[in-house]
Amino acid sequence: MAKEKTVYVCSDCGGTSPKWQGKCPSCNAWNTLIESVAESSAPAKNRFASLAKTAEVAILSDIDAVDMARTPTGHEELDRVLGGGMVEGGVVLIGGDPGIGKSTLLLQALDSLQRSGQSTLYVTGEESGAQIALRSRRLGLDHSQVRVLAEIQLEKILAILDATQPDIAVIDSIQTVYSEQLTSAPGSVAQVRECAAHLTRYAKASGRSDGVTRGRATCIVLVGHVTKDGALAGPRVLEHMVDTVLYFEGDTHSSFRLVRAIKNRFGAVNEIGVFAMTEKGLKGVSNPSAIFLSQHAEPVPGSCVMVTLEGTRPMLVEIQALVDSGGPSPRRLSVGLDKDRLAMLLAVLHRHAGVACMDQDVFVNAVGGVRISEPAADLAVLLAITSSLRGKPLPKGFFAFGEVGLAGEIRPAPRGQERLKEAAKLGFSVALVPKANAPKKPIEGLTIHAVERVEQAMDVVRGL
Ligand code: TYD
Ligand code: MG
Repeated sequence: MAKEKTVYVCSDCGGTSPKWQGKCPSCNAWNTLIESVAESSAPAKNRFASLAKTAEVAILSDIDAVDMARTPTGHEELDRVLGGGMVEGGVVLIGGDPGIGKSTLLLQALDSLQRSGQSTLYVTGEESGAQIALRSRRLGLDHSQVRVLAEIQLEKILAILDATQPDIAVIDSIQTVYSEQLTSAPGSVAQVRECAAHLTRYAKASGRSDGVTRGRATCIVLVGHVTKDGALAGPRVLEHMVDTVLYFEGDTHSSFRLVRAIKNRFGAVNEIGVFAMTEKGLKGVSNPSAIFLSQHAEPVPGSCVMVTLEGTRPMLVEIQALVDSGGPSPRRLSVGLDKDRLAMLLAVLHRHAGVACMDQDVFVNAVGGVRISEPAADLAVLLAITSSLRGKPLPKGFFAFGEVGLAGEIRPAPRGQERLKEAAKLGFSVALVPKANAPKKPIEGLTIHAVERVEQAMDVVRGL
């Protein structure tokens, strides 16, 4: 293939330069020029006239709304985040820290897809075929018929995809793939973006009938590594390109892993799948409500249980806080919770409940490596902090949820009834919830304290 011309495009203003420079010649920003393949510019005259003949405009109601064919992977928790299964012609991006289980999960999924009659292809750029084989033995996937290709050059991968036309192909990982059209190193933003764009285009174009039926479209799964600051290959360059973005979460030290859908053109977002890493790979956890609780025999100070509702399932998560006298510049640290929100909550606590932590280090943590983004965690965070500050545990069987506003008000959390019922089912007996979430009919075995303001919440907790 002839080498295509490349240009350097500014990621800020879109200006171009034929060669690399430190400063963008158009907007004078530094370090923004990124190599990309030059669009072959046709002669300006009559360019649009000839293009207009090739593109088709259709009336919306005339277009057949074909329901996307979904293929369940056979792993219930994975299907849940995918919105039912792999979609024909869809592109899925799976991100996560190294060693969290991306390759393991995908190999397991490909094997069960292959066994259910789909044709699969596993393209590995990180491990050799022998390493994959070793892993499949360990996973107990005997006589697996999954096809494996150890290759990192994009053009060769595309050629093999075209020749074998698999139903599902996994590229592990997109950071190892490189295109010979670009001179930048594999893993650079330019390479990752270019290769992902080519593979996405392939998935969309494959199987498209052009008079003769060409069979099914290929679903492509791209594996992406997350850099230290949590971004996927540079400035999240791939997320807008693909149909579905899944992220692996969880602590590599604990055995639980969460897979969260943060974008899904074919299903609900924020849905999560829960897995446990075992000797034989990842196993779905179908009833995950209670796995994010640490098992204290007796209540300890600085711990408050909340019910979070991510996706469709309520889960109980323990929030821990440690407040300890700090130095001249006290530290605020949060793991699994938003750091800015912690600063805000401390300010609300001071202003509206008169609890000062100015000279204290404050650490908060969501148990089990789970990440909680919903504001309904606010109340539990506040209660864990005050409990640690006073050295007084919250009573046994206690939980709380609710959003805290800057004016000290406690706002309702969505679908409060479901949260309350889940906690009651697991044997929790005392709840502190926003007034608007208080149920009309009492829930058996549950004492509910409904509050409207932070001050009120503090009074209730003191009296328990
Ligand atoms: P891996 O899938 O290689 O992670 P990634 O592709 O995201 O980098 O996961 C490897 C980790 O999983 C490794 O630390 C070993 C562990 N593991 C198990 O605990 N059980 C198993 O059956 C397998 C295959 C791996
Ligand atoms: Mg891997």
